[in-house]
Amino acid sequence: QVADQVLPYLPEAVQSHASNVSPVALVALLAAVPAAAASLAASAASSSSSSRKGRLPPHVGHWVPFLGSMVSFGMRPLDWLAEQRKQHGDIFTFTMFGREMTYVLGPDGNHAVLNGKLADISAELAYNSLTKPVFGADVVYDTSNPVFMEQKRFVKAGLSAENLRSYVPLIEAETLNYFTRWQGQQGEGELAKALAELTIMTASRCLMGEEVRSNLDESVAQLYHDLDQGFQPINFLFEKLPLPAYRRRDIAQKKMADLFLDIMKERRATGRTNNNDVLQVLMDADYKNGTKLTDIEAAHLMIALLMAGQHTSSTTGTWCMSFLAANPDVFAELTTELYNELGGDWSRPLDFDLLKRLPLLDACIRETLRLRSPIYAIMRKVVRPVEIMGHVVPAGHYLCASPAVSQRDPEVYEDPMAFKPRRWLDTSNNAQMQKILRAETDMAAAEDFGFGVVGGSARSNYLPFGAGRHRCIGEPFAYVQLKTIIATLVREFATFEFVMGPEAFPKEDFTSMIVMPEKPIMIKYTRRERSPLSGAAVAAP
Ligand code: HEM
Repeated sequence: QVADQVLPYLPEAVQSHASNVSPVALVALLAAVPAAAASLAASAASSSSSSRKGRLPPHVGHWVPFLGSMVSFGMRPLDWLAEQRKQHGDIFTFTMFGREMTYVLGPDGNHAVLNGKLADISAELAYNSLTKPVFGADVVYDTSNPVFMEQKRFVKAGLSAENLRSYVPLIEAETLNYFTRWQGQQGEGELAKALAELTIMTASRCLMGEEVRSNLDESVAQLYHDLDQGFQPINFLFEKLPLPAYRRRDIAQKKMADLFLDIMKERRATGRTNNNDVLQVLMDADYKNGTKLTDIEAAHLMIALLMAGQHTSSTTGTWCMSFLAANPDVFAELTTELYNELGGDWSRPLDFDLLKRLPLLDACIRETLRLRSPIYAIMRKVVRPVEIMGHVVPAGHYLCASPAVSQRDPEVYEDPMAFKPRRWLDTSNNAQMQKILRAETDMAAAEDFGFGVVGGSARSNYLPFGAGRHRCIGEPFAYVQLKTIIATLVREFATFEFVMGPEAFPKEDFTSMIVMPEKPIMIKYTRRERSPLSGAAVAAP
């Protein structure tokens, strides 16, 4: 009887399978997931009303109601999406854990999601149940969009060229210091762990302040870990569950916010306010209406930045160094590029301007982000029915783009799965690559959403940092961080290879929100010869 009452509220796709499922199983499933069931009921109600107004996108078939295509999508999402695209075209819907996910692929799909109207689609409704418990209240997706856009403006101001310039020596010193753990002239080390630890050390030193960095080895690392555990796919499905990981997440959120609040209080009390970090900028920030960003909002924003920048940068660094380990020819070319720019002096420190003169290093990071974009799905929730590619996507659906699929498109990229950084440098005979590069600087539809003008077209096959109002503001920092770390490693190590040979290239792990490399990634290295007097590396490449 209960099942009979629930059924009318379920999406059509679930209803059509429900007759094959025992009512007990159906009710048990729904009882176990009240939050999902509620959102599902809402989405079903709206989808049935809007379906009358237009043609729904094609629906991918599935065998198990409610779960839908969750397993096949979850195991290898990018391949699966590419397969569905071949079968259904650039727009299709599938069921995933009671939610209706509509993917729109290709440049037009990217544009539809990334430049969708605020009145039609909402990032806040898609992400807030996941992010609020980790970041805290009143920031990012837990505030109105115009307020969030102002918060992005504050952070962007903190990532000024002047500040970025001052970060290069800090990141270089952290990297050299960290890799003293890889001892001896030759040896073996685990890459993913090293880059994860180094990323949090450098990000906290540059963005959060030296007080956070000095606490990192003790309390902060554990807090970070507990918060991170609140950022798993299960948290996307269930905002609250009586599980220890959820409790630890909530405790860590409070402690981390308190840590930032204490630092702000201490800085004000001692007058030590001349810091080049984002925290300092947030402490002094005013909204346009004259009110101040409160300390608790600043603390929550700092947590948001920590989480937004950690896995994205650390996995990109790990993938990039893995590509270099698998491609010793590129590693050698990179060595020569750096050696020449250093004027043949390995002991010369890196600086911001020098990093700008390393086109091959730039291209290696670009190519890494093409093949291994950490964020492979960008989601919005449809607020009112929206027409895309001749179909109507009903309110309640999740509307998703996957720039990562566009970035592997064989119609656009020659030999799409190969790591070929030079494709970004020698574009004279390649109309597709020229088109992509032109799209990046296209100012025709440039718009200021409240955090400075965002140029570049979202109708593109290369968008690792997104586009439009939700575009990444961390890109300049990520590039400075990654370039400094990778250049320092290239300067330090003469050889850098997988212990098990080139075939040991790590597989993609899609089980977390960010595409990680499967671990461990064991590297064998040889350091450059050092001068006994100066301690500087002496050998030419
Ligand atoms: C947004 C990617 C590093 C802060 C985004 C988005 C993408 C992205 C794809 C758009 C999300 C959406 O539209 O839903 C990356 C990649 C990074 C990186 C690939 C590194 C390689 C960072 C860093 C920070 C950061 C280091 C902070 C210092 C942000 C913020 C947003 C954002 C604040 C805005 C979210 C919004 O407006 O909804 N990033 N990111 N990111 N990222 Fe990054």
